[in-house]
Amino acid sequence: MAIDAIRTVAVLGAGTMGNGIAHVFARCGYTVILRDVEESFLTRARDTITKNLDREVKKGKVAEADISRILGRIQTTTDLSQLARADFAVEAVPERLDLKLAVMREADKLLRPEVILASNTSSISVTTLAAAAGRPDRFIGMHFMNPVPVMVLIEVIRALQTSDETFHTTMALCERLEKKPVAVNDAPGFVSNRVLLPMINEAAFAVMEGVATAEAVDAILILGMNHPMGPLELADFIGLDTCVHILDILLEGFGDSKYRACPLLRKMVAAGWLGRKSGRGFYSYEGKR
Ligand SMILES: NC(=O)c1ccc[n+]([C@@H]2O[C@H](COP(=O)([O-])OP(=O)(O)OC[C@H]3O[C@@H](n4cnc5c(N)ncnc54)[C@H](O)[C@@H]3O)[C@@H](O)[C@H]2O)c1
Repeated sequence: MAIDAIRTVAVLGAGTMGNGIAHVFARCGYTVILRDVEESFLTRARDTITKNLDREVKKGKVAEADISRILGRIQTTTDLSQLARADFAVEAVPERLDLKLAVMREADKLLRPEVILASNTSSISVTTLAAAAGRPDRFIGMHFMNPVPVMVLIEVIRALQTSDETFHTTMALCERLEKKPVAVNDAPGFVSNRVLLPMINEAAFAVMEGVATAEAVDAILILGMNHPMGPLELADFIGLDTCVHILDILLEGFGDSKYRACPLLRKMVAAGWLGRKSGRGFYSYEGKR
């Protein structure tokens, strides 16, 4: 589909990523059909988008007068048949292969044949998803970063089957969202997680071996390498369970023991110390959530 023909975008899943993706499309003038399985999730998403738009007004990124127009572009629904109106679709349902495959198949039946279907998966092979999606050449990975309204990168992942047309349209669409797309080919962890997770893992090993405290490891990366946040604070932000899950995907995908998750990470996950979301990880967040 030509880029100028894309006016209405379906976003499947209104969670952490889905509400951010809907926010950004609506802010950039697109009509959004935001779909989730329960009305209460859609209400929560709309509340989050409203709060985040207010924050953007305070930062001078959005004019207060535009807020109602932006919110007015987002149509929330539990009715899957609304997908038939979409000119582009992004799926952001939970990271479970069975669920993603089911959602892809359902979406494929409803979307018009020329419509591109993108997945925001952070770790599942987009080639596998493309094979199941029924429109392999019009399938692509669009890996938005969290929080979506703030982060400029979109890692665009070409499945083996993705056509040149799908790729170029998706890259152009990312630009229209005022984001910076960076193209990669499909491989376990793509580039973002393949490079980031071994660093986080190594930082956890350094703590486990008593080389340094979490604070010291983070300070070295912040002060010495100019990282805005240390790897262990970032791990807490991502969720230690998610970190272990992605390391397991890298380990399985490459069959290389260098991706073995640090035992300390596994132990913390077993204790329920998942990072920011559980109130405790490498740092304590009691009262900060
Ligand atoms: N959270 C992150 O930092 C992050 C970053 C990059 C990519 N991702 C990826 O984005 C995707 C979504 O992650 P999230 O953190 O937003 O998850 P989430 O759990 O916050 O949200 C997922 C939403 O999808 C909904 N859902 C479930 N089944 C559905 C269906 N059949 N149709 C429509 N909606 C359905 C759920 O009710 C939920 O509201 C995952 O693939 C994840 O790996 C997450």
